[in-house]
Amino acid sequence: MENVRTIGICTGGGDCPGLNAVIRAAVKTALLKYRWRVIGVRDGFDGLIWPATKTMPLDMQSVSGILPRGGTILGTTNRGDPFKYKIEENGVEVTRDFSEEVVRNAQAMGMDALIVVGGDGTQKIGLGLHNKGLKVVGVPKTIDNDLSATEITFGFDTALHTCTDAIDKIHTTAVSHHRVMVIEVMGRDAGWIALESGMAGGAHVILIPEIPFSIDSVCNFVRERTAAGRKFTIIVVAEGVKLPSDLAAKFEGEKRQSPRAGAVGNLIGDAVGRCTKRETRVTVLGHVQRGGSPSPFDRILSTRFGVAAVELIARGGYGRMVALRDTKVVDVPISDAIGRMKAVDPNGELVQTACAIGICFGD
Ligand code: F6P
Repeated sequence: MENVRTIGICTGGGDCPGLNAVIRAAVKTALLKYRWRVIGVRDGFDGLIWPATKTMPLDMQSVSGILPRGGTILGTTNRGDPFKYKIEENGVEVTRDFSEEVVRNAQAMGMDALIVVGGDGTQKIGLGLHNKGLKVVGVPKTIDNDLSATEITFGFDTALHTCTDAIDKIHTTAVSHHRVMVIEVMGRDAGWIALESGMAGGAHVILIPEIPFSIDSVCNFVRERTAAGRKFTIIVVAEGVKLPSDLAAKFEGEKRQSPRAGAVGNLIGDAVGRCTKRETRVTVLGHVQRGGSPSPFDRILSTRFGVAAVELIARGGYGRMVALRDTKVVDVPISDAIGRMKAVDPNGELVQTACAIGICFGD
């Protein structure tokens, strides 16, 4: 077994439900089973740039009661890449490489290994630090569920519950008012949240980045439903969906520059409302999907990942990340997990199932 006395843990990138459950599980295993000391690194990797103010000891008391709590007690950021850190100097924003400092500071604190909890970007940074001499193990997270080396990331199941609940609620008002309702959900690059919450919530149209769509096809579908006496339609859109050129051309004047939440849902809602002449409303779920108490599934997966990360350190499995495969927790090289997105297969079983029950993908 590795000669470890102190480990660190940090959470990076966008937060998600289950991060606290990972921290709790890792701290408990490290303290109870191995008698290691645990240092919490705050705000992503920032804590290793400014250790005096941004690190904290983690003991049993500090993780008490955090299992059902959303967010992360350590804080996080998606702007804190120590390899190209943006900082203001003399009123000017400059980019600095703090990676050497990060490794030095971790060593100075006696940190024998660091657990990095995060998505693609955070794991990439973790691997970079590992290559510079900091012993790192990874824990994958993202509500988008698009990390390739693991079947599921924690946070996804809770986000699905949030979205499905919202779609259920929108359903009843859609029926009452005979309206077309567009619901924009997260999914910057992949359509997992839209596809699965759309299916669970009984959506009629699901638009995802992996399947090119046209507004004409969506409008024809809505018209056919109307002609068949179905006066309401639920359309679930992933925020990362690729806008068809005809939409961009037809509504040139309304094109939004911002990739931020709401741009795509509103554009599609406007377009569908105009071409179907049906009253249309748009709901953007936004960061509601990232918050809240983790579902039982996510609490358990997070706990398994937290424990497995500590066991990985005990075995000396540095440069590796815990993952779920065939319902078992395994570990894989971090390099296998980054840079390759796990996309929805347009010809896969889930999409085929949706098609079989008449869901339209706008293609
Ligand atoms: O990567 C997870 C995610 O939830 C994406 O789906 C979304 O585009 C992004 O985070 C939003 O991030 P931010 O908190 O920076 O707005």
